[in-house]
Amino acid sequence: MATFKTQVVSETENGAVSLAVQHLAAGNLVAIPTETVYGLAADATEYAAVQQIYKAKGRPSFNPLICHVADVAMAKKIVTVSALASRLMEIYWPGPLTLVLPARPDSPIAAPVSAGLDTLAVRCPNKGITREIIRKLEKPIAAPSANPSGKLSPTSAADVLAGLDGKLPLIIDAGDAPEGIESTIIGVKNDKLYLLRPGTITADEIAERLGQPVLDRNEDEISAPGQLLSHYAPEASVRLNATEKRDGELLIGFGDIKGDISLSASGDLSEAAHNLFKTIRNADKTSTRIAVAPVPNEGIGIAINDRLKRAAAPRKDA
Ligand code: TXA
Ligand code: MG
Repeated sequence: MATFKTQVVSETENGAVSLAVQHLAAGNLVAIPTETVYGLAADATEYAAVQQIYKAKGRPSFNPLICHVADVAMAKKIVTVSALASRLMEIYWPGPLTLVLPARPDSPIAAPVSAGLDTLAVRCPNKGITREIIRKLEKPIAAPSANPSGKLSPTSAADVLAGLDGKLPLIIDAGDAPEGIESTIIGVKNDKLYLLRPGTITADEIAERLGQPVLDRNEDEISAPGQLLSHYAPEASVRLNATEKRDGELLIGFGDIKGDISLSASGDLSEAAHNLFKTIRNADKTSTRIAVAPVPNEGIGIAINDRLKRAAAPRKDA
């Protein structure tokens, strides 16, 4: 595919929004900041533009993309929004919650976005400049995390550049991503809620706010084609639940287990989520063997352990 000189433009620079909109309108890819991780965006209504996302990431064609919208009104043009889904949007949007909903029969979204499913994932990011870009483009943007398929998600413009330099013309730089891990994904089907991917908005919190359970996706065989066992893989090997360092390892600590570097010395799970990918990336630069201290499997710890389990899983090409 075409190689680009990848330009990094700060979100505060004059003209950053219009430059991003110009590229997207021309069918090019743009890396955009969100509150969770950086995304690799294309006009979601343009078949060829969306195909470029799969190509640039080396993403398997069966793994669908999230449509990012500027507001609820834009979401309603592409998916059917039930009363239950509407409540979730009211409570959590803009914010790190993705909803998988039935695609409207007249949806203008290009077919590869949903990878053959009759649902679409929609999310309204809590990042002003990105919503402004979408609003000015006047179309949803499809955006997976801006990393080569199977690798760690990027939490800075430098991370995007490290994985995708030359594969896109523009990265909008908004500094460190505040949340640090990807959005919670909830499927809504027949007035039931299913957890497809844990995130910083926890399933327990959603269940409590809505007064109904958030079910395991396996209960009704809800499709979640992207939840592959090996994902978020650094180059180094990863050993989990390490209470001490073995020979040649770099230990990533949490709470009382200090380690060489820590996710959160005070044992704060939000801080640990924010630091997770960044810390693994740094560790990967200095060691071929990474060990990670146990992280409690409660609250946001569930999302952190989900990512860690995949980072440590045997890799396809190993
Ligand atoms: O925080 C986030 O969600 C970030 C930022 C950039 O918004 N995006 C992100 O995208 O994490 P990605 O592509 O890395 O992960 C999206 C996940 C994949 O596991 C995919 O399989 C799932 O969403 N997904 C997308 N559409 C779906 C659908 N219709 N049904 C079930 N799962 C779907
Ligand atoms: Mg991803």
